[in-house]
Amino acid sequence: PTARKLFHLLVDSDLAPEQAIALIDFAAHLKAQHRAGEPQHHLLRGKTLAMIFQKPSTRTRVAFEAGMAQLGGHALYLSTNDLQLGRGETIADTARVLSRYVDGIMARVFRHADVVELATHASVPVINGLSDLVHPTQALADMLTIKEQFGGWSGRTLAYLGCANNMAHSLALSGALVGLSVRIATPPGCRPDPVIIERARTIATRTGGRIEVATDPYEAVRGADIIYTDVWVSMGQTVSDDVLRALENYRVTPEIMAAAAPHAVFMHCLPMFRGQEATAQVADGPQSIIFEQAENRLHLHKALLVELLSDAGPGVLR
Ligand code: CP
Ligand code: NVA
Repeated sequence: PTARKLFHLLVDSDLAPEQAIALIDFAAHLKAQHRAGEPQHHLLRGKTLAMIFQKPSTRTRVAFEAGMAQLGGHALYLSTNDLQLGRGETIADTARVLSRYVDGIMARVFRHADVVELATHASVPVINGLSDLVHPTQALADMLTIKEQFGGWSGRTLAYLGCANNMAHSLALSGALVGLSVRIATPPGCRPDPVIIERARTIATRTGGRIEVATDPYEAVRGADIIYTDVWVSMGQTVSDDVLRALENYRVTPEIMAAAAPHAVFMHCLPMFRGQEATAQVADGPQSIIFEQAENRLHLHKALLVELLSDAGPGVLR
């Protein structure tokens, strides 16, 4: 086999479009295999993943940890409070030391620069498990969920309502990679990062996707196949009262869903605050696929881990 080169997944666009699609297909394969009860224990036997968490997690932690177990490997949950990082040891030293013990590092951080710093000094692959800038493992798993739902991405439109946060950025980037159209509708006080939008648009010109930034929620959802929203206040962020008031118009309600395509689905990365960014009627209604999304984190993470930590997969990141 070809020697594996050091590959970090810090931002969705670290993947080329072909790599993103092949990774998602491999995740679908592992999902089918897992459901059929076929053995997967050999894929990462003897491998260890260190998981650094600067903030809480349910899905990311459990999906990576269970994924490593299913693949025959081991995952370590390391909260910053328990690591020497919490007492001032540098990220660089932490990266160098962990690289001597484990085969990969996953990190959930406040500042995106921290996960970049970790990758700069690590000699094993680093995966971004959410930063203030992006949430690539979520958005890539969401692309699998969308493909399962619609058979593909081409000609489909995802409308994101709310503040342009890490989730909106990753949906623009991952959406661009697979050729999805993404419309982001935000109040004036929380527009997306123009650098991310530019990058997503550049990718979209190659893949047939389209990235639009808008203000009017009803215009954004018109004819859309997927309505996506996220919390109004992300972990570690503050939002002004003006923006919070403005966000009232971006709540996903049955009226918003009625303005989308008749077959539209509702998506949310979770955790969610019912009654705030979406009503319970929508979140728990027949159009909601939020738990399919949560499940697909497991399968996407497993595909990523096999590709990054071993030579046992199709080699899309080699
Ligand atoms: N969606 C997601 O990343 O959830 P957690 O914060 O529970 O990991
Ligand atoms: N935007 C949210 C996503 C949580 C999974 C946050 O950063 O808190």
